[in-house]
Amino acid sequence: MNEIEKTPRSFRCLLVTGGAGFIGSAFIRYLFRQPEFTGRVVNYDALTYAGNLENVAGAVDESRYEFVRGDICDRDLVLRTCETFGVDGIVNFAAESHVDRSILGPGAFVQTNVMGTFSLLEVVRARPSIHFHHVSTDEVFGSLGPTGAFTEESPYQPNSPYSASKAASDHLVRAYAHTYGISTTLSNCSNNYGPYQFPEKLIPLMILNMLESKPLPVYGDGMNVRDWLFVDDHAEAIWMVLRSGKAGSTYNVGGRNEWPNLKLLEKLIEIVAEETGRSASALRDLITFVKDRPGHDRRYAVDASKIERELGFRPRHDIDSGLRETVRWYVANGGWIERVRSGAYRDWIEKNYGAR
Ligand code: NAD
Ligand code: DAU
Repeated sequence: MNEIEKTPRSFRCLLVTGGAGFIGSAFIRYLFRQPEFTGRVVNYDALTYAGNLENVAGAVDESRYEFVRGDICDRDLVLRTCETFGVDGIVNFAAESHVDRSILGPGAFVQTNVMGTFSLLEVVRARPSIHFHHVSTDEVFGSLGPTGAFTEESPYQPNSPYSASKAASDHLVRAYAHTYGISTTLSNCSNNYGPYQFPEKLIPLMILNMLESKPLPVYGDGMNVRDWLFVDDHAEAIWMVLRSGKAGSTYNVGGRNEWPNLKLLEKLIEIVAEETGRSASALRDLITFVKDRPGHDRRYAVDASKIERELGFRPRHDIDSGLRETVRWYVANGGWIERVRSGAYRDWIEKNYGAR
């Protein structure tokens, strides 16, 4: 039985937290391409190392867009922002998102991912006309053996400080909907890739290292499996859930697109070679096996049947078209890469908003 909302939700003003990051910015760019969305967007972002306003530059209708620099833990500022702009929906992307960083320093993850989500939920508890969508990850379900896939009913078994902090935030969302009756939806997505991804994550790191003939660091035996989804497909899935997902429900999002890291890297090498004229075998020689990530989850796979069945979600990109588009973007956007790598993108932020 379909459990969707009978009338799709419509929003006059969406507060997008973390809208200067990789997926949040893709969502904002996506929103401004949707003719049925005529409302305003407030991009609320603390501009940590992962936040870059270049990611939305030129892609928004300025008459319907505002940027507020703020921390999601700052409940008063979130509340004031909601009141000032008449926010009726929050989409929460703001997070510390990189597993390796969570192993080196878990504190920021607990602060932003747990306390930040708590703070947003408190705002919604005080203003229950606001619908709250929480963007989460498949990593909350832990690690799979060679078969099977995560469903919405899979038990939570987070293994890294990052996934534990995301799991805690998911539980808070569920508890607030259950206890206080606020309107929420939640999505747990697999690994994203695409343009504007910060080059600490596997795919952009590998592309950039190939372009500079640097070693390609493969953790462990390279046989850890991830389920990859092009970022614009994730944006579309969130928009579908936000509009029509049943209040109180969760949706798993994925591309049915599992790849062991080493096989994915081989495919990426072929595409970079074709797109840049470099020798594929010279690129293969750059592969370097390095020490494994502590507690490295072996395999993720998402069963996306529910969002496919109830909301009609289908990814528009397969791995070949998605990777090619991604490689072409990084090859064509040396300026963005240079500013991210040199830290120059921070200069503009500091000039306009002060140091952090
Ligand atoms: P990202 O690291 O690229 O961006 C995070 C954004 O949040 C940045 O703009 C940063 O400045 C902002 N931010 C961080 N702390 C903040 C705070 N305290 N207050 C306000 N803003 C803050 O992350 P991403 O890859 O775009 O991920 C976005 C969301 O999607 C996260 O919640 C992540 O857990 C989830 N997710 C990511 C993936 C993936 O593959 N990247 C997959 C599934 C789910
Ligand atoms: O599954 C969704 C999650 O995907 C998101 O919730 C996270 O925010 C996102 O960062 C991502 O987590 P992963 O740890 O899977 O992504 P990452 O790009 O860091 O690594 C992908 C795989 O590649 C993983 O098995 C580790 C491996 N890896 C990664 C890096 C950075 C390498 O082998 N070498 C590397 O240099």
